[in-house]
Order: sequence, then C-alpha cells, then structure tokens
Amino acid sequence: MCGIVGYVGEKQAAPLIIEALKKLEYRGYDSSGISVLNSEGIFTAKKKGRIQELESMLDYSKIEGTLGIAHTRWATHGIPDEINAHPHLDCSGKIAIVHNGIIENYASLKEVLISEGHRIVSQTDSEIIAHLIEKFQKQGNPLEHSVKKALSLVEGTFGLAVLGTDKFGGPRIIAAKKGASLIIGIGNNEIILASDATAIINHTRKVIYLNDDEVAVLSKDGCFITKINGERVKNQIQEIKWSLEEIEKKNFKHFMLKEIMEQPEAVQNALRGRINGAVPKLSLKIDVNKTKRIILTACGTSWHSALIGKYLIEKIAQIPVEADYASEFRYRDPLISETDLVMAISQSGETADTLAALRQAKSKNAQTAGIVNVVGSTIAREVDSGIFLHAGPEIGVASTKAFTTQVVALALFALFLRHEKGIKDSPELMRELSMIPSKIKEFLTSAEGQIGGIAKEFYSSKNFLYLGRGVNFPVALEGALKLKEISYIHAEGYPAAEMKHGPIALVDDEMPVVFVATQSASTFDKITSNMQEIKARGGRIITITDEENSSIKSLSNFLVLVPKTIEELSPIINVLPLQLLAYKIADLKGLSIDKPRNLAKSVTVE
Ligand code: F6R
Repeated sequence: MCGIVGYVGEKQAAPLIIEALKKLEYRGYDSSGISVLNSEGIFTAKKKGRIQELESMLDYSKIEGTLGIAHTRWATHGIPDEINAHPHLDCSGKIAIVHNGIIENYASLKEVLISEGHRIVSQTDSEIIAHLIEKFQKQGNPLEHSVKKALSLVEGTFGLAVLGTDKFGGPRIIAAKKGASLIIGIGNNEIILASDATAIINHTRKVIYLNDDEVAVLSKDGCFITKINGERVKNQIQEIKWSLEEIEKKNFKHFMLKEIMEQPEAVQNALRGRINGAVPKLSLKIDVNKTKRIILTACGTSWHSALIGKYLIEKIAQIPVEADYASEFRYRDPLISETDLVMAISQSGETADTLAALRQAKSKNAQTAGIVNVVGSTIAREVDSGIFLHAGPEIGVASTKAFTTQVVALALFALFLRHEKGIKDSPELMRELSMIPSKIKEFLTSAEGQIGGIAKEFYSSKNFLYLGRGVNFPVALEGALKLKEISYIHAEGYPAAEMKHGPIALVDDEMPVVFVATQSASTFDKITSNMQEIKARGGRIITITDEENSSIKSLSNFLVLVPKTIEELSPIINVLPLQLLAYKIADLKGLSIDKPRNLAKSVTVE
C-alpha cells in the first residue's frame, strides 16, 4: 500500500503536495518522491526514508510549477532506495508516473520494452508503465490514449497518476484506477488527487471517487472522466463529512479493527499473481532435492504461523519440518548443515532474535529463505530468496493480517515444494486457496455483532482457555496471545487433548473455554469429547465451528459459525473470530488497543 498525490491549479504545486503526502504516510514510508512540471520540463526528486527527509532536501523556490505528483512508498518490488522510489520517468524524462498497486505481468512487459530499446533503471513493477506510455505517445497517440493503451496491457491493480504534456491539450495529469483507491478533490480552480481523502480535506470536501477502470484527465480545463474503453462517465461529486482521523482509519475506531477487516484484500494481494493452475508461481532459489529438513524460525504470532507451516509442509510436501522459536534456536547451538533450509518468518523483517537465528543458519551453510511483509527490511535483504506477504503496512501492534497472509504464503510454499519434489499437484487445494478471500469476507461482513455479544458476556473474566487440535492448535495459541496482549486477560492456548493432563484443574464456572472445532478436522470427534469434559466441570464453552449440529449446540454456551474450508486452510478462517473477540473485549475495557502497554510493533532488541 503506497500513497499518491497530484495537483493541478494556480498555486505552487511542490509545497502543497508534500504537505498532502505527509497525511498519507501511514500507508507506508520507506521512500518518497515528487515530480513538478513547468515550461522547462519535469523536475523530479526522490529520497529514501520518511517524507520529512525528502522535504528537507527540497528548495521550493527552485521548483516552480503548478502541476505535480508525489508518492510515499511501501515497497513491493525492489528494495526501498532512491532508484526504486517513485515517480518513475520514461526514457525521455517527459512522462512521470506514480503508482500504488501491483503489476503482475511486469516481468514479461519489461522484457519486451528492453528488447525495443527502453532503458529501465529500477527493479519496480511500476516503472514499465512510464515506458509503455512513452511507446504509445511516440506512435502519435494523445497522452490520455497512450495511458489507456498501456493500461490495457497490464494485469494487476493500480491507482495511477501520470504527469505529462499532451501535444494537443497541454500539461496535464492522467489518473486511473483499478483495485486501488483514488479520489479527486474538486476545489476552486484547483484539483487535488490522492489515494485517500486525508490528503484532500484541507483543500476541499468536494470529491469524486474514481471507480475501477476509469481514467480522469486533470488539467486547467477541469476534470474529465471516461472508462478505459472510452465510454464517457458523468462526474459524481460528493461531500466528505468525516474527520481526518476517521479517514486515516477509514472510519474504523482502531487500526487493529481496520486491519482485521482488511484481511480479504490482504489475502487476495498475498495470492495475486501466484496462482497459476495447480502450481504456485513463486521465485524461490531453493534446491529442493538437496533439502532434507526445513526449519521455520520466528517469534510471537509469526511463530504460530510457523507451527501451522510445519503441519502444511509435512502434509503437502512430505518434507520433515521443525518450527522453532528464534530466541531458542539461536542460543541452542543447533545442529545445522547444508542439507537444511532455514526459513525466517517475520512481519517486520527486523525482529532481532529472528534475524540472529537466520544469521546463525547462514554461518552453518544452510540454505535460507524468508516470509516477510516489509520489503527492504534486514531479513528480506539477507535471505537467499523469499515470499513477500503484500499485506500492506500493519500499524496496530497486535498482528492480524500478517498472520493470515503468512499462513497463505506457507500454503503456497508447501504446494511449491510438492511440485518441485515431483509429487502429483493438488489443484483442489489451489482452488480452495483462491476462494479464501471471499470466505474471509463472508465471515467478517456479518460477525461483528455476534462476537460483540460474546465479548459483553466475558470481558470481566480473569482467565481464558483456548483449545484446538492439529493445525488448529496454533490457532488456539494465537487466540490466547491476541487476548493477552490487548485486553491484559490471562489466557492459555493448549492442544485440546492435553487439557486433561493439567489445565482441566483450572476449569470452573468462571472459566470461559474457547474451542476451535471445525468439523473438517480429522480429530473432530475427539474434540467433542474434550468439550464434554469441560461441560461436566461447569466451564462455559464458546465454540468456533463450521457446521451446526445438535451435539455441538447442546455442549456450547455460544456457537460461532465460520465458512467451511478444507482442514489445511481452516486456520486462516478460524483465527478471524478470535481476533475479533480479543478486539471487542479490549474495546469494552476501554484499553489502548493499537498501542498496548509494554509492547512494541517491532522488537529489535534481544
Ligand atoms: C503479536 C505480535 C508479536 C509479533 C512478534 C514477531 O500480535 O505482533 O508477537 O508477531 O514480535 O514480529 P515479526 O513478525 O515482525 O518478526
């Protein structure tokens, strides 16, 4: 998720768009850049780091011009540096573009453009758009048509702003949208374009929400919108009534809730361009035949994903896997050799223990790989190869969308290994994986009310027990961790069958017990016996399941129904009610959900 801004009007563009861009910094801030157009051409400046750093190197008195675009980047392709920062220019330097989204087929388009003589300087997927536009403009097309022709070739998502001059109509910005938000603010003799309204409302509250496949031409003559196929679209101006803070959080009360609700798109982005029939498309440098064992290493929530990864890889690819806390692994002097693959899993890519574990594995000549959200982070740079989550920035301290996208990445990884090992592909699993975003959405659109009701019943409880089996045991651990960290209620996750070896002593009528008991699980019958054991001791049962049946209903005080999926993928769905339950309880307690006490988003100390 990046932020883009554009301006056409009578004021000096540079200071105005930099101020507007700062409002979008929450969308990502690994590098930023600006292009301003005047009679001498396009001036461009870019800088690694926060927008403040770009701003401090700009001398506004030297950047005259009333048209400009700017970008704050959250890297997806290519490390965060000045070359990969936006805007990107074509070969002539007469077209500048800023892009938010992912171009899935950029590699093949890039190859063609290079063979045609284009000079592509960055590692990004976005730069090819500037060169495609250049190509079509050179063929004599107006700028707007060149943009449309370019966009008809790209697969993926875009919120795009193109700064250039049309030989018939003069200087202009062409904006286009597909799957990434773009809003046009209509002011007095000025137009401000931005990824979201936070960057616009200081200037105007009159906006047009661009729809998918629409292209807007912004110039001193106003705003004209057509579809990519040329059909004219009537400008639908609306008035924004939200406050700045509400817009940043998209009207959600907390970033955590926004990130929970964002999971359909986050998971879709993690899958984007990676599902190709029965074989996942991943660019991993792994010698699978040499790999005798895989060690997944991580901390916290990412370690819970690793536990699920062990289950998935062993089942799908039939390679032995260990899931190890990075902090334990690194101090154990583990037995590692070059036949091991050590995979570090980390949202931030900066967790000190995970990084140290990775370095230790490298020093022992293991192959390494990563599953990381933040592109350009230290872990992402130090692994031999890896899978980015593409989940967008996670701002709430409690990890939510990073967890679900990690499990998706691990499922893709397991399928990749299976294929590389020559085991018969599993098209059913791929098909089910591609349906996961809509199942997440199906659950999240209707769940809040019910989970809110359960939270009201239990928010003053002192202890919680979470139980699950098999692939859903780590989900129980994750549910307990979510509750602990944001609501400060003591909670424990256990494999359901272990309960009778100790924790059952804690159960009384004060104790809520959450069962993750989807019926796809091979151990479903065993779980119902565990429920009987809790019920017999007066425990109050909240059951997460995917099919209502009379025995489960009679055993449960509260029943949460989730969409059905296959057992391997059930953690992605089953964790959703647990994330929401923790959130709702913490909210009822009035706690600081996005910044819980004593916790930091990225633990870079040992
Ligand atoms: C829990 C949480 C932490 C992190 C852990 C690892 O909600 O966010 O437990 O999962 O600190 O962080 P990363 O994934 O950035 O390495």
